[in-house]
Amino acid sequence: MAGIIRVDVPLGDRSYPVLVGAGARHQLATVLSESRLTAAAQRAAVVTQRGIGVEVDPGIASESFEIPDGEQAKQLATIGELCSGFSRFGLTRRDVVVAVGGGVVTDVAGFAAAVYHRGVAVVHVATTLLGQIDAAVGGKTGVNLAEGKNLVGAFWQPAAVLCDTEVLGSLPERELRAGYGELAKYHFIGSPAAEPWLAKTPSGDLGELPIGERVAACVAIKAEVVASDETESGRRALLNYGHTLAHALEIEGRFDLRHGEAVAVGLRYAALVARLLGRIDDARVAEHERVLAAYGLDAKLPAGVDADEIIELFGRDKKATDAVTFVLDGPSGLEAVPGVEAGVLRGALDQM
Ligand code: GLY
Repeated sequence: MAGIIRVDVPLGDRSYPVLVGAGARHQLATVLSESRLTAAAQRAAVVTQRGIGVEVDPGIASESFEIPDGEQAKQLATIGELCSGFSRFGLTRRDVVVAVGGGVVTDVAGFAAAVYHRGVAVVHVATTLLGQIDAAVGGKTGVNLAEGKNLVGAFWQPAAVLCDTEVLGSLPERELRAGYGELAKYHFIGSPAAEPWLAKTPSGDLGELPIGERVAACVAIKAEVVASDETESGRRALLNYGHTLAHALEIEGRFDLRHGEAVAVGLRYAALVARLLGRIDDARVAEHERVLAAYGLDAKLPAGVDADEIIELFGRDKKATDAVTFVLDGPSGLEAVPGVEAGVLRGALDQM
């Protein structure tokens, strides 16, 4: 496993490894034979999308199941079709689902694995930056409804995650940028898991790490946060930093923004809200803008945003526990701040 970094998600007897590095996908057969959850598996249902084009070898009998390309695949009908396919293939509870793709594939395959035969093991082979540093790690799975994103799902932790940085090289620039917004988020989470990684850099900045170590650092931060609050009753909500405006822009739907690009806009906005509330100063806002710019993210509000509509949409974000709870930076780092007033939200939108 030369050059492969192992990060563990520590969840007691459900702990699992995340292997990060060039060629990590070639560890699939070994990982399947070593995990207590998959060692007895005789069949692997490999779920992917046509456009992914990443081959894997599970080392046991396998069949490939293609779901439609794009976010459109994240619907209950896809889960039904996959489970029917698994059944025709003869997949049993002791077998395994292998998801090969980005966030859409790991969300859909993970949810199908969570409900098929009331739960079969899943291993994620994450092929996008966003999938590697966020979607594939932490056990959130699910699909969208016409009424909103990710409204149906389950927490279903994988048996292992493989993050092959070799495949990132073939991603289109826009797909990489979609991951950079989430990468930027990790600069502000404030987890002790970041410290060993920051200590390797000349000026204590995650952006100075080579890509494999940067992915591993983000995975380590996410693993620590997930382990502290697996089902998001509190601290895990910090992983949604920048997501309230991002989700509103995505629900509004008129803007050509990938998820990570929307998160970048949301991070800058959250910094402006925090400054208006006196929680952070100009230098900290500038730090947000510096990090975003370093990832090539301009983080500007798209032209034509209707402030009233966006503020109304904040209240419909399923992550909000009341209409205007925001994850905001402050003197002690990020925290969920309830009751942010509409005047502040509008004032920060005006400053964008
Ligand atoms: N993507 C945020 C989380 O996994 O909690």
